[in-house]
Amino acid sequence: MSLTLTKMVHTPVLVDEVVEALNIRPGKRYVDCTLGGGGHALAVLSKLQHSCELLGIDSDPEAIRIAQHNLYDYFESTVIINDNFYNLENICKETDFQPVDGILFDLGLSSLQLATAERGFSFQNSGPLDMRFNPDEQLTAADIVNKLPESKLAQLIYIYGEEPFANKIAKNIVNSRPVTDTADLAAIVINTVGEQHGKIHPATRTFQALRIAVNRELDHLTSALEQSLHCLAPGGRLAVISYHSLEDRIVKNFMLRETRACICPANLPECRCKHTPQFILINKHPMIPTDSEIAINPRSRSAKLRIAQKL
Ligand SMILES: C[S@@+](CC[C@H](N)C(=O)[O-])C[C@H]1O[C@@H](n2cnc3c(N)ncnc32)[C@H](O)[C@@H]1O
Repeated sequence: MSLTLTKMVHTPVLVDEVVEALNIRPGKRYVDCTLGGGGHALAVLSKLQHSCELLGIDSDPEAIRIAQHNLYDYFESTVIINDNFYNLENICKETDFQPVDGILFDLGLSSLQLATAERGFSFQNSGPLDMRFNPDEQLTAADIVNKLPESKLAQLIYIYGEEPFANKIAKNIVNSRPVTDTADLAAIVINTVGEQHGKIHPATRTFQALRIAVNRELDHLTSALEQSLHCLAPGGRLAVISYHSLEDRIVKNFMLRETRACICPANLPECRCKHTPQFILINKHPMIPTDSEIAINPRSRSAKLRIAQKL
Protein backbone atom coordinates (compact mmCIF):
# COMPACT_ATOMS: atom_id res chain seq x y z
CA MET A 1 0.00 0.00 0.00
CA SER A 2 1.45 3.32 -0.94
CA LEU A 3 0.27 6.83 -0.15
CA THR A 4 1.00 10.03 -2.01
CA LEU A 5 3.44 11.97 0.14
CA THR A 6 1.82 15.33 -0.60
CA LYS A 7 -1.52 14.14 0.82
CA MET A 8 -0.01 13.16 4.14
CA VAL A 9 -1.06 15.55 6.82
CA HIS A 10 -0.99 14.75 10.52
CA THR A 11 -1.24 17.86 12.66
CA PRO A 12 0.91 17.33 15.75
CA VAL A 13 -0.97 17.84 19.00
CA LEU A 14 0.19 20.32 21.70
CA VAL A 15 3.29 20.95 19.61
CA ASP A 16 4.47 24.18 21.30
CA GLU A 17 3.89 22.61 24.70
CA VAL A 18 5.93 19.53 23.72
CA VAL A 19 8.87 21.64 22.49
CA GLU A 20 8.77 23.59 25.75
CA ALA A 21 8.38 20.41 27.81
CA LEU A 22 11.48 18.77 26.33
CA ASN A 23 13.60 21.80 27.24
CA ILE A 24 15.56 21.58 24.00
CA ARG A 25 19.17 22.69 24.23
CA PRO A 26 22.14 22.67 21.82
CA GLY A 27 24.24 19.50 21.65
CA LYS A 28 21.57 17.41 23.42
CA ARG A 29 19.81 14.21 22.33
CA TYR A 30 16.07 13.64 22.09
CA VAL A 31 14.04 10.51 21.36
CA ASP A 32 10.64 10.57 19.70
CA CYS A 33 9.28 7.10 20.46
CA THR A 34 6.21 7.60 18.24
CA LEU A 35 7.64 9.34 15.22
CA GLY A 36 4.52 9.08 13.01
CA GLY A 37 4.80 11.62 10.19
CA GLY A 38 7.53 13.43 12.11
CA GLY A 39 5.43 16.46 13.10
CA HIS A 40 6.74 16.74 16.67
CA ALA A 41 10.22 15.67 15.57
CA LEU A 42 10.35 18.46 13.01
CA ALA A 43 9.31 21.01 15.65
CA VAL A 44 12.05 19.74 17.99
CA LEU A 45 14.75 19.77 15.29
CA SER A 46 13.80 23.14 13.87
CA LYS A 47 13.78 24.81 17.28
CA LEU A 48 17.59 25.03 17.29
CA GLN A 49 18.10 24.30 13.59
CA HIS A 50 20.89 21.70 13.36
CA SER A 51 22.30 21.82 16.85
CA CYS A 52 20.52 18.91 18.57
CA GLU A 53 20.09 15.25 17.60
CA LEU A 54 16.93 13.20 17.38
CA LEU A 55 16.28 9.47 17.39
CA GLY A 56 12.85 8.68 15.93
CA ILE A 57 11.16 5.31 16.45
CA ASP A 58 7.97 3.96 14.91
CA SER A 59 6.71 0.41 14.52
CA ASP A 60 4.87 1.28 11.30
CA PRO A 61 7.13 1.10 8.22
CA GLU A 62 4.77 3.41 6.31
CA ALA A 63 5.12 6.09 9.04
CA ILE A 64 8.91 5.69 8.84
CA ARG A 65 8.83 6.28 5.07
CA ILE A 66 6.77 9.46 5.53
CA ALA A 67 8.94 10.73 8.40
CA GLN A 68 12.11 10.17 6.36
CA HIS A 69 10.58 12.35 3.66
CA ASN A 70 9.38 15.05 6.07
CA LEU A 71 12.65 15.21 8.06
CA TYR A 72 14.91 15.12 5.01
CA ASP A 73 16.38 18.58 5.74
CA TYR A 74 17.61 17.27 9.10
CA PHE A 75 18.90 13.87 8.00
CA GLU A 76 22.36 14.59 9.43
CA SER A 77 20.93 15.19 12.90
CA THR A 78 18.42 12.33 12.79
CA VAL A 79 18.46 8.58 13.33
CA ILE A 80 15.23 6.86 12.26
CA ILE A 81 14.46 3.33 13.39
CA ASN A 82 11.54 1.09 12.42
CA ASP A 83 10.94 -0.77 15.67
CA ASN A 84 8.62 -1.00 18.63
CA PHE A 85 9.29 1.35 21.53
CA TYR A 86 9.25 -1.60 23.91
CA ASN A 87 12.84 -2.01 22.64
CA LEU A 88 13.68 1.57 23.65
CA GLU A 89 16.72 0.79 25.80
CA ASN A 90 18.23 -1.59 23.24
CA ILE A 91 17.62 0.82 20.39
CA CYS A 92 19.42 3.62 22.29
CA LYS A 93 22.33 1.26 23.04
CA GLU A 94 22.59 -0.17 19.53
CA THR A 95 22.52 3.27 17.90
CA ASP A 96 24.87 4.65 20.57
CA PHE A 97 22.25 7.29 21.25
CA GLN A 98 22.74 7.72 24.99
CA PRO A 99 22.35 9.26 27.46
CA VAL A 100 19.22 10.99 26.33
CA ASP A 101 18.03 14.46 27.36
CA GLY A 102 14.38 14.16 26.42
CA ILE A 103 11.93 11.41 25.50
CA LEU A 104 8.54 11.93 23.87
CA PHE A 105 5.60 9.56 23.52
CA ASP A 106 2.60 10.75 21.46
CA LEU A 107 0.50 7.65 21.90
CA GLY A 108 -2.09 5.91 19.76
CA LEU A 109 -2.43 6.23 16.03
CA SER A 110 -1.91 9.01 13.52
CA SER A 111 -4.51 10.69 11.33
CA LEU A 112 -2.78 9.07 8.37
CA GLN A 113 -3.23 5.56 9.75
CA LEU A 114 -6.84 6.35 10.62
CA ALA A 115 -7.55 7.77 7.16
CA THR A 116 -6.14 4.75 5.32
CA ALA A 117 -9.10 2.36 5.10
CA GLU A 118 -6.83 -0.61 4.23
CA ARG A 119 -5.21 -0.36 7.66
CA GLY A 120 -8.53 -1.21 9.27
CA PHE A 121 -8.48 1.35 12.11
CA SER A 122 -11.54 3.34 11.08
CA PHE A 123 -15.21 2.64 11.71
CA GLN A 124 -16.08 5.37 9.17
CA ASN A 125 -14.72 3.38 6.20
CA SER A 126 -14.96 -0.11 4.82
CA GLY A 127 -11.66 -1.99 5.12
CA PRO A 128 -10.13 -5.22 6.39
CA LEU A 129 -10.24 -5.69 10.16
CA ASP A 130 -6.50 -5.34 10.59
CA MET A 131 -5.37 -2.57 13.05
CA ARG A 132 -1.71 -3.61 13.22
CA PHE A 133 0.76 -0.73 13.55
CA ASN A 134 3.38 -3.13 12.24
CA PRO A 135 2.00 -5.25 9.38
CA ASP A 136 4.69 -7.90 10.06
CA GLU A 137 3.01 -8.85 13.33
CA GLN A 138 0.76 -11.92 13.19
CA LEU A 139 -2.33 -10.98 15.19
CA THR A 140 -5.02 -8.89 13.48
CA ALA A 141 -8.32 -7.51 14.75
CA ALA A 142 -10.10 -10.10 12.56
CA ASP A 143 -8.37 -12.91 14.50
CA ILE A 144 -9.66 -11.51 17.78
CA VAL A 145 -13.17 -10.79 16.51
CA ASN A 146 -13.58 -14.21 14.88
CA LYS A 147 -11.64 -16.56 17.15
CA LEU A 148 -12.02 -15.39 20.74
CA PRO A 149 -14.73 -17.10 22.83
CA GLU A 150 -17.67 -14.78 23.47
CA SER A 151 -16.90 -14.28 27.18
CA LYS A 152 -13.26 -13.36 26.47
CA LEU A 153 -14.30 -11.01 23.68
CA ALA A 154 -16.78 -9.30 26.01
CA GLN A 155 -14.08 -8.98 28.68
CA LEU A 156 -11.64 -7.47 26.19
CA ILE A 157 -14.18 -4.91 24.93
CA TYR A 158 -15.16 -4.06 28.49
CA ILE A 159 -11.63 -3.66 29.85
CA TYR A 160 -9.82 -2.05 26.91
CA GLY A 161 -12.82 -0.12 25.60
CA GLU A 162 -14.51 0.66 28.95
CA GLU A 163 -17.65 -0.22 27.01
CA PRO A 164 -20.72 -0.74 29.23
CA PHE A 165 -22.52 -2.76 26.50
CA ALA A 166 -19.57 -5.13 26.00
CA ASN A 167 -21.56 -8.33 26.68
CA LYS A 168 -24.28 -7.50 24.15
CA ILE A 169 -21.77 -6.37 21.54
CA ALA A 170 -19.70 -9.56 21.94
CA LYS A 171 -22.85 -11.69 21.64
CA ASN A 172 -23.89 -9.99 18.41
CA ILE A 173 -20.38 -10.22 16.97
CA VAL A 174 -20.26 -13.94 17.67
CA ASN A 175 -23.71 -14.39 16.06
CA SER A 176 -22.49 -12.53 12.94
CA ARG A 177 -19.22 -14.43 12.44
CA PRO A 178 -17.22 -14.29 10.29
CA VAL A 179 -16.81 -10.49 10.54
CA THR A 180 -13.97 -9.31 8.33
CA ASP A 181 -14.79 -5.71 7.45
CA THR A 182 -14.56 -2.57 9.62
CA ALA A 183 -17.88 -1.21 8.30
CA ASP A 184 -19.64 -4.50 9.12
CA LEU A 185 -18.24 -4.43 12.66
CA ALA A 186 -19.32 -0.80 13.11
CA ALA A 187 -22.83 -1.75 11.88
CA ILE A 188 -23.02 -4.63 14.40
CA VAL A 189 -22.10 -2.24 17.23
CA ILE A 190 -24.64 0.37 16.07
CA ASN A 191 -27.35 -2.31 15.81
CA THR A 192 -26.52 -3.36 19.36
CA VAL A 193 -26.24 -0.01 21.16
CA GLY A 194 -28.17 2.33 18.85
CA GLU A 195 -27.22 5.31 16.69
CA GLN A 196 -24.89 8.08 17.86
CA HIS A 197 -26.40 10.52 20.37
CA GLY A 198 -23.45 12.34 21.92
CA LYS A 199 -20.09 13.38 20.48
CA ILE A 200 -18.69 9.85 20.47
CA HIS A 201 -19.50 7.37 17.70
CA PRO A 202 -21.00 4.17 19.19
CA ALA A 203 -18.19 2.01 17.74
CA THR A 204 -15.36 4.13 19.21
CA ARG A 205 -14.91 2.04 22.33
CA THR A 206 -15.05 -1.34 20.58
CA PHE A 207 -12.51 -0.22 17.97
CA GLN A 208 -10.26 1.22 20.69
CA ALA A 209 -10.38 -2.08 22.58
CA LEU A 210 -9.43 -4.11 19.53
CA ARG A 211 -6.58 -1.75 18.58
CA ILE A 212 -5.16 -1.87 22.11
CA ALA A 213 -5.30 -5.67 22.13
CA VAL A 214 -3.85 -6.14 18.63
CA ASN A 215 -0.86 -3.91 19.38
CA ARG A 216 -0.54 -4.80 23.09
CA GLU A 217 -0.45 -1.07 23.65
CA LEU A 218 -0.73 -0.94 27.42
CA ASP A 219 1.98 -3.58 28.05
CA HIS A 220 4.34 -1.86 25.65
CA LEU A 221 3.71 1.55 27.20
CA THR A 222 4.33 0.23 30.72
CA SER A 223 7.58 -1.39 29.64
CA ALA A 224 8.83 1.62 27.66
CA LEU A 225 8.14 4.03 30.52
CA GLU A 226 10.29 1.89 32.83
CA GLN A 227 13.06 1.86 30.22
CA SER A 228 12.88 5.64 29.83
CA LEU A 229 14.17 5.90 33.41
CA HIS A 230 17.37 4.11 32.40
CA CYS A 231 17.83 6.07 29.17
CA LEU A 232 17.36 9.59 30.52
CA ALA A 233 20.33 11.65 31.72
CA PRO A 234 19.94 13.57 34.99
CA GLY A 235 17.82 16.62 34.22
CA GLY A 236 16.34 14.88 31.15
CA ARG A 237 12.63 15.27 30.47
CA LEU A 238 9.92 12.69 29.82
CA ALA A 239 6.83 14.02 27.98
CA VAL A 240 3.84 11.78 27.27
CA ILE A 241 0.66 12.64 25.37
CA SER A 242 -2.16 10.16 25.97
CA TYR A 243 -5.61 10.07 24.40
CA HIS A 244 -7.72 7.91 26.69
CA SER A 245 -8.03 7.19 30.38
CA LEU A 246 -6.35 3.75 30.32
CA GLU A 247 -3.14 5.20 28.87
CA ASP A 248 -3.26 8.31 31.03
CA ARG A 249 -3.68 6.23 34.19
CA ILE A 250 -0.54 4.23 33.40
CA VAL A 251 1.47 7.41 32.73
CA LYS A 252 0.15 9.22 35.79
CA ASN A 253 0.75 6.28 38.15
CA PHE A 254 4.23 5.70 36.76
CA MET A 255 5.26 9.33 37.16
CA LEU A 256 3.74 9.60 40.63
CA ARG A 257 5.39 6.38 41.78
CA GLU A 258 8.78 7.56 40.57
CA THR A 259 8.50 10.87 42.41
CA ARG A 260 8.08 9.12 45.76
CA ALA A 261 10.87 8.20 48.11
CA CYS A 262 9.24 5.04 49.37
CA ILE A 263 6.26 3.19 47.97
CA CYS A 264 5.70 0.96 50.99
CA PRO A 265 2.52 1.61 52.98
CA ALA A 266 3.10 4.35 55.56
CA ASN A 267 6.87 4.28 54.89
CA LEU A 268 7.38 1.56 57.51
CA PRO A 269 10.69 1.70 59.44
CA GLU A 270 11.40 -1.92 58.40
CA CYS A 271 10.92 -0.94 54.76
CA ARG A 272 13.56 -2.46 52.53
CA CYS A 273 12.42 -1.19 49.18
CA LYS A 274 15.07 1.55 49.22
CA HIS A 275 13.07 3.28 46.56
CA THR A 276 14.56 6.68 45.88
CA PRO A 277 12.74 9.30 43.82
CA GLN A 278 13.73 9.34 40.16
CA PHE A 279 11.58 12.20 38.90
CA ILE A 280 10.09 15.52 39.78
CA LEU A 281 6.83 16.41 38.12
CA ILE A 282 6.97 19.46 35.87
CA ASN A 283 3.19 19.79 35.72
CA LYS A 284 1.03 18.59 38.57
CA HIS A 285 -2.03 18.49 36.32
CA PRO A 286 -1.84 17.39 32.70
CA MET A 287 -1.71 20.04 30.00
CA ILE A 288 -4.64 19.96 27.59
CA PRO A 289 -5.22 21.68 24.24
CA THR A 290 -6.82 25.11 24.09
CA ASP A 291 -10.26 25.54 22.55
CA SER A 292 -8.63 27.09 19.50
CA GLU A 293 -6.35 24.05 19.00
CA ILE A 294 -9.35 21.73 19.32
CA ALA A 295 -11.26 23.83 16.76
CA ILE A 296 -8.39 23.49 14.28
CA ASN A 297 -7.55 19.88 15.13
CA PRO A 298 -10.54 18.04 16.68
CA ARG A 299 -8.38 14.92 17.12
CA SER A 300 -6.55 16.80 19.91
CA ARG A 301 -9.65 17.10 22.11
CA SER A 302 -8.85 14.15 24.37
CA ALA A 303 -5.09 14.77 24.59
CA LYS A 304 -3.32 15.03 27.95
CA LEU A 305 0.35 15.92 28.24
CA ARG A 306 2.25 14.88 31.37
CA ILE A 307 5.86 15.93 31.94
CA ALA A 308 8.46 14.73 34.43
CA GLN A 309 12.16 15.48 34.87
CA LYS A 310 14.79 12.94 35.88
CA LEU A 311 16.56 13.90 39.08
C1 LIG B 1 -0.15 9.81 17.30
S1 LIG B 1 0.97 9.12 16.18
C2 LIG B 1 2.40 10.12 16.35
C3 LIG B 1 2.37 11.33 15.48
C4 LIG B 1 3.64 12.16 15.57
N1 LIG B 1 3.86 12.67 16.90
C5 LIG B 1 3.61 13.33 14.59
O1 LIG B 1 3.62 14.47 15.03
O2 LIG B 1 3.58 13.06 13.39
C6 LIG B 1 1.49 7.68 17.00
C7 LIG B 1 2.52 6.86 16.23
O3 LIG B 1 3.08 5.92 17.16
C8 LIG B 1 3.29 4.70 16.52
N2 LIG B 1 3.28 3.69 17.58
C9 LIG B 1 2.25 3.31 18.37
N3 LIG B 1 2.66 2.37 19.23
C10 LIG B 1 3.98 2.17 19.00
C11 LIG B 1 4.96 1.32 19.59
N4 LIG B 1 4.66 0.49 20.60
N5 LIG B 1 6.22 1.38 19.12
C12 LIG B 1 6.55 2.24 18.10
N6 LIG B 1 5.65 3.04 17.50
C13 LIG B 1 4.39 3.01 17.95
C14 LIG B 1 2.16 4.58 15.53
O4 LIG B 1 2.52 3.73 14.47
C15 LIG B 1 1.98 6.04 15.08
O5 LIG B 1 2.71 6.29 13.91
